Amino acid sequence: MTPAGLKPAPPATLVIFGITGDLARRLLVPALVNLRREGLVTSGLDILGLGKQDVDDDTLRPALGEFIHDGDPGWKKLRERVFYLRGDFGDDSTYRALAARLGPGNAVFYLATPPALFAEIAARLSAHGLLDEDQARFRRLLIEKPFGHDLASAQALNQSLLDLVGESQIYRIDHYLGKETVRNIMVARFANPMIEAVWNRRYVDHVQITAAEAIGVGRRGRFYDSTGALRDMVPNHLFQLLAMVGMEPPNSFAASAIQPEKSKVVDAVRKLSPDEVRKNVVRGRYGAGRVGDEARPAYSDEPDVDPKSRTETYVAMKLRLDTWRWSGVPFYLRTGKALARRDTEIVLQFKPVPCALFRAAGAGRPPTNLLVIRIQPDEGISFDFLAKLPGPAVETVPVSMDFRYADHFRPGSLTGYETLLYDMLTGDQTLFQRADAIEAAWAAVQPILDVWSRGRGRPQPYEAGSNGPEAADALLARDGRDWHALEP
Ligand code: BG6
Repeated sequence: MTPAGLKPAPPATLVIFGITGDLARRLLVPALVNLRREGLVTSGLDILGLGKQDVDDDTLRPALGEFIHDGDPGWKKLRERVFYLRGDFGDDSTYRALAARLGPGNAVFYLATPPALFAEIAARLSAHGLLDEDQARFRRLLIEKPFGHDLASAQALNQSLLDLVGESQIYRIDHYLGKETVRNIMVARFANPMIEAVWNRRYVDHVQITAAEAIGVGRRGRFYDSTGALRDMVPNHLFQLLAMVGMEPPNSFAASAIQPEKSKVVDAVRKLSPDEVRKNVVRGRYGAGRVGDEARPAYSDEPDVDPKSRTETYVAMKLRLDTWRWSGVPFYLRTGKALARRDTEIVLQFKPVPCALFRAAGAGRPPTNLLVIRIQPDEGISFDFLAKLPGPAVETVPVSMDFRYADHFRPGSLTGYETLLYDMLTGDQTLFQRADAIEAAWAAVQPILDVWSRGRGRPQPYEAGSNGPEAADALLARDGRDWHALEP
């Protein structure tokens, strides 16, 4: 993080509903510590945790320090500003106590709770006047994903929040937008005319967006079994990447310029007919296997999973964007758990040259240019192109230019939440999702949910530690293409 030129966030109380959960310990508090160390938040920031657990300030503070280096100067300063308020989220007395504790100043309410509680907590905050803003103070709501579980529930949640507060008070989080490499997609495109010039249907054959995970569902079986890979990853994280790739250049880097451009992309995803869902969408589910050296149980044997459920742990699909720039260019998306390795990347495969002047070394057609944006874990951008094979014959070989973040920048210990929290405290909504974008995303995947919920089909099996089900390979093979290999 380069704090140069950034002003410290204004004083505020960050109220975290669900402070004793994993998210606060692993990501939120470490991110706030990083901000405090860099001077981007000051002693004016209080953290007020809310929960039912029987803890107090003195027991909460060390528990929150679990993922922070001992002696971190940011933590030393911040921990004195961490407080706990015990209370039931469904009880009015909790909100009265909260109002008394907060007083008239700025406050942000972070709902790191089960999603079923979002609307109720917001309604109670509002009923107690805690969301009222005036010239002197802001009041904001931060909502974690999942935002709804289908189109209707996302619309209902938006409606109930917007009945209470204005859109400018709502910050819907998708943590992918806090990742440096995701934000770099816009810089790669719009600060580099050479890249942006070929970023269109004239030169691009197709796009692949992959979010492969090596982890299984672990201890999240209960949540995951009622969610599945599609809901968990596609309308949110994968569509964020899709929007960054597909968007038109915004007029500025302000939220008001970027958000509409991103929404337009998601809006332009062609809705699949039931037949197209059956043909163009593949779902899979891992069986027992080995990921690296580690033996993995089948999904159905994971804790808190109903072995009879039809929940998918993998999904791949072919989508079309009905825009001037991308008409005719397929977008292939895939994501899954318990795959061979963790690899989140975007691949642009370029079209072949109009006529082949050169022979490829070895058999077959020469490969075409490939631009790979690696989001994680080995962040960077590589470009594959052809060079002449040394020797008397004019033959081509594929070579690669590779930019790795780690070679150029100090690998930080950022969690990805620093930017999101700082932006929220300073009132910048660029990296947050607007109501219309969320609904457009659900609208795009709703036809898939409908077909799956009506049919009797089941996910295709794949072995843990593999690259996913064979049917996903067949989806591309049918178009004469194949998936970019998961990066080792
Ligand atoms: C979360 C999903 O939103 O994103 C998880 O609920 C998933 O299932 C995670 O593992 C992936 O995030 P990251 O940052 O590890 O790519």
